[in-house]
Amino acid sequence: MPPELRGSGPIHDSRFTYGPANIVANFNDLHITEARAISTHLPRELRPEGDPRAVQEIVTAIETAGGQIPFSEYMRLALYGRGGYYADGKVAFQQNGSGMGDFETAPEKSFDFSRALVVGVCALWDATGKKPFNLVEVGGGSGRMAKDMLSTFRNEQSEAYSNLEYFINDFDGMKPRQQETIGSSQGAHVGSYALTSGEEGHAQDLAKVTWLDAASETALQELDNGRPTIVVANEVPDAAPADIVSNVDGVLRQKMVAFDGTYFTEQWGELTPEVQDYIERYGVAVPVGQETAISVEALALQQKITHTPGFAAFINIDYGQFGPAFYDTEPWQPAPVSISGASGRPHGQWWTEAPLRTYPRGFHPLQMAGELDITYNPDFNAHRQAAEEEQLRTVFAGTQESFIEVCGMPNSRTMFAIREEIDSFFSEASKRRIDRARELFADRFQVLVVTNLTGVDFETPKPLLSGYDELVKLVGHRS
Ligand SMILES: C[S@@+](CC[C@H](N)C(=O)[O-])C[C@H]1O[C@@H](n2cnc3c(N)ncnc32)[C@H](O)[C@@H]1O
Repeated sequence: MPPELRGSGPIHDSRFTYGPANIVANFNDLHITEARAISTHLPRELRPEGDPRAVQEIVTAIETAGGQIPFSEYMRLALYGRGGYYADGKVAFQQNGSGMGDFETAPEKSFDFSRALVVGVCALWDATGKKPFNLVEVGGGSGRMAKDMLSTFRNEQSEAYSNLEYFINDFDGMKPRQQETIGSSQGAHVGSYALTSGEEGHAQDLAKVTWLDAASETALQELDNGRPTIVVANEVPDAAPADIVSNVDGVLRQKMVAFDGTYFTEQWGELTPEVQDYIERYGVAVPVGQETAISVEALALQQKITHTPGFAAFINIDYGQFGPAFYDTEPWQPAPVSISGASGRPHGQWWTEAPLRTYPRGFHPLQMAGELDITYNPDFNAHRQAAEEEQLRTVFAGTQESFIEVCGMPNSRTMFAIREEIDSFFSEASKRRIDRARELFADRFQVLVVTNLTGVDFETPKPLLSGYDELVKLVGHRS
């Protein structure tokens, strides 16, 4: 074992250098990617009756529509309408495993996630002929991935750094926190370059970023600058408005939302033409008695992305599934959600957890409109099919773990072997967490890379990211 690992003391002591110890610290949370982890600490006051602006907009929409709206319309208004959870920038990200936040995503868990993604982007950029390029992040969240990708480009891929302009396409309500995150070392991960960047480095990174308001349908069209455009998105399609479809005694029905004067209520209605079309086009097969979620808008967002001027490639990362039997492999069991008494909303409505989830966990999606995140499991088959129908090539379609492995991370078998080898660095609690997460989430996250470029190879693993070579030597192999 290299001497710098033995006896280098507790991992958190070596904060300001980037070396194996930091990498192991990062791995504590990498591969877990247990997005939207349950948080028991609510980071902010939730208004039990919902955001009044969001509630009002939804009630008006229901009245205007003659008494009911598709669930997707409710979700759109609750997340992206006036006073919406994202539109209003309410979302509370959990950072550095603080336990505080509505949910936690992979870039929030580990700097190395963004570091591996930079390798993936560079593989695509190489195939453009290394021209000046647009790197667009759709759904920038807290700004963490932008911060870590930019500082990684600056430190590890300086040629690409000088050729890129970074764009964040998100709702304006998210912009102030993204600017703050990118422009400072506040809240940087252990080992992250962002910790050692200094004011100048942060200012340089921030100056590379331009915001494009997602509320504008044409924002992505503004990229018409003649450069190739590479797009990345982590956990964005799952936040697209989704519809719930159920097979009720052999007939497919769609969830509609009504208002009884006090509460939002749900009822099964006829399929809208868009939902019907999606079901036929993408082969949605819902077994009798089961429900699933589909999102016409997630595919519309993908299409908006692939129609961006200069579009070259899209790396789409999210939970969800590939596989021909996406809709009927998981026997989703309807389960009653536990509804907080505080809201006074009716208890005991039945709702399937799997097709739809709320964050913070445990609330009914029709509660607290505008205060909660609502998500569904994206159908990666449909995303792939839709992209291929537009003549794009799929150059990667697989699990997140296999993608970051191709991008220079050791896979989890190797990392667990390393973990065994340097057991003393890990607390029992974090080991349990890793094991549990691995069991539960190993294949829950997927990556789809579609492109019109030729010569992109995401099959041959890239060289190990610096620092990992020493760790891999510890176990003598990269399995
Ligand atoms: C679950 S968060 C993920 C944030 C971040 N990518 C991460 O991994 O931590 C979803 C993000 O997508 C944004 N978003 C949702 N729909 C969008 C759309 N149609 N266009 C652009 N951004 C969108 C939200 O505002 C939010 O920042």
